[in-house]
Amino acid sequence: MSNNLLAGKRGIIFGALDENSIAWKVALEAKSQGAVFTLTNAPVAMRFGEIKKLGEICNAEIIPADATSMPDLENLFTKSMEILGGKVDFILHSIGMSINVRKGLPYTELNYDYFLKAMDISALSFHRVIQTARKLDAINDWGSIVALTYIAAQRAFPGYSDMADNKAALESIARSFGYYLGKEKKIRINTISQSPTATTAGAGIKGFDKFTSYAAKVSPLGNATAEDCARYTVMMFSDMTKMVTMQNLFHDGGFSNTGVSEDILDLV
Ligand SMILES: NC(=O)c1ccc[n+]([C@@H]2O[C@H](COP(=O)([O-])OP(=O)(O)OC[C@H]3O[C@@H](n4cnc5c(N)ncnc54)[C@H](O)[C@@H]3O)[C@@H](O)[C@H]2O)c1
Repeated sequence: MSNNLLAGKRGIIFGALDENSIAWKVALEAKSQGAVFTLTNAPVAMRFGEIKKLGEICNAEIIPADATSMPDLENLFTKSMEILGGKVDFILHSIGMSINVRKGLPYTELNYDYFLKAMDISALSFHRVIQTARKLDAINDWGSIVALTYIAAQRAFPGYSDMADNKAALESIARSFGYYLGKEKKIRINTISQSPTATTAGAGIKGFDKFTSYAAKVSPLGNATAEDCARYTVMMFSDMTKMVTMQNLFHDGGFSNTGVSEDILDLV
């Protein structure tokens, strides 16, 4: 159902790889709520060709950009403003990648080259995106920037490896940059901490299926789906949430505030 929450708004959506991606669902929801936007992903992700389908459905142009490349990001913002006819009102950062996780390296035996790469892609890219947008004056006053994160930034989750540290940095960047952009232009920056969700990135975590069913048993509302996350994200882009900034917002069916559940106790 559309309430036209994003009517008249322009944006950029990073990270739609295939139809399971959270960013894919956000694009569909943003479109149905009246937004216009460009889609972007790493040049290597274009090879799979799935994003073209999304571009057609959403009538959105696709601009490849490696989120760790400043020239790519400058090109992305410049072209997006040309295509959309002005500055943007919202940005979704839905990017994560860790070679340590992919290779199943335990946290106690990390490879530091992989760690640095993961930190650059998963966390510093958020700073790069915001810094580039600020330099090009590419965001309207009262704009909204959201990045997706996970509760391993606050609690120990064996198996999440170096992504826990990357997410902690990501959340910190939202707070730190949120201060400056709030003061300068009333632009708000938040992270949404999502339940485990079956996507390409999610499935890379060791024991992901068990992890997901554990979270569902702990959370009073169960796990939030990618579609639920899309609706919440779109609300954060809308004018309904104008005074929310520098927050890490848990979107997890109550997982983060539950100590133990009866469903889990029944299994012990
Ligand atoms: N799936 C989960 O369980 C879960 C839970 C909480 C948070 N998140 C977060 O949600 C976000 C989206 O992940 P997803 O689960 O939709 O998986 P996904 O694999 O569909 O999305 C990850 C995206 O990151 C992109 N990416 C990787 N390297 C890049 C680079 N150098 N430049 C630009 N883009 C790059 C990939 O191409 C892909 O589109 C991530 O930040 C992830 O950590 C996921």
